[in-house]
Amino acid sequence: MKSSLNLVWHPTTVEKKDRQRLNNHRSFILWFTGLSGSGKSTLANAVEKRLFEKGIRTYLLDGDNIRQGVNQGLGFTAEDRKENIRRTGEVAKLFVDAGVIVLTALISPYQEDRQMVRELVSEDEFVEVYVKCPVDECEKRDPKGLYRKAREGVIPNFTGISAPYEEPENPEIIVETNKLDFEESVDRIVSYVLKKALG
Ligand code: ADX
Repeated sequence: MKSSLNLVWHPTTVEKKDRQRLNNHRSFILWFTGLSGSGKSTLANAVEKRLFEKGIRTYLLDGDNIRQGVNQGLGFTAEDRKENIRRTGEVAKLFVDAGVIVLTALISPYQEDRQMVRELVSEDEFVEVYVKCPVDECEKRDPKGLYRKAREGVIPNFTGISAPYEEPENPEIIVETNKLDFEESVDRIVSYVLKKALG
């Protein structure tokens, strides 16, 4: 496809390693995956705050937000979710190139789609964080009232109710938000990230 479009990749003089050196830390993707209501956004937000306070350059791409911009118009069929993940993955890759630790909070329910993003970057640039919480607990929490609407049939293809969630097979980090104290979950992720970023 590239050759038919006559595109040639232009190398840049300032490279990822230069930006990383300027920032004094490595850059990679911290990919939060889990059911709606599992706590992805809240956790990612708290982790970002802690990293920011330590002088780490970060950016958070949240599914609900990015779907109102770059991914506007995409719905919740398997195909649209794939495109949502693909675009977010490509944007995240740019942030990694910019020397930033990029956190993403998307349900990303399909193993194949998450694997696609993992393969977009180098092996050490993708950290999968499985925010694990049973669906009945997420439904009990129902912070946005969406599970109720899904049960009423108002929202079709709702993850965990009428659309699948495939659990990560080999995530780098698992946090069980129905078992672990919130601050403990944040601590666990932050210490992993700091070690990887600075170690
Ligand atoms: S993903 O499956 O494509 O990764 P994403 O994380 O971007 O999903 O968006 C999920 C958010 O969209 C949820 O937090 C919820 O607010 C909203 N939403 C609306 N419809 C659905 C649906 N059918 N399934 C899941 N989430 C939905």
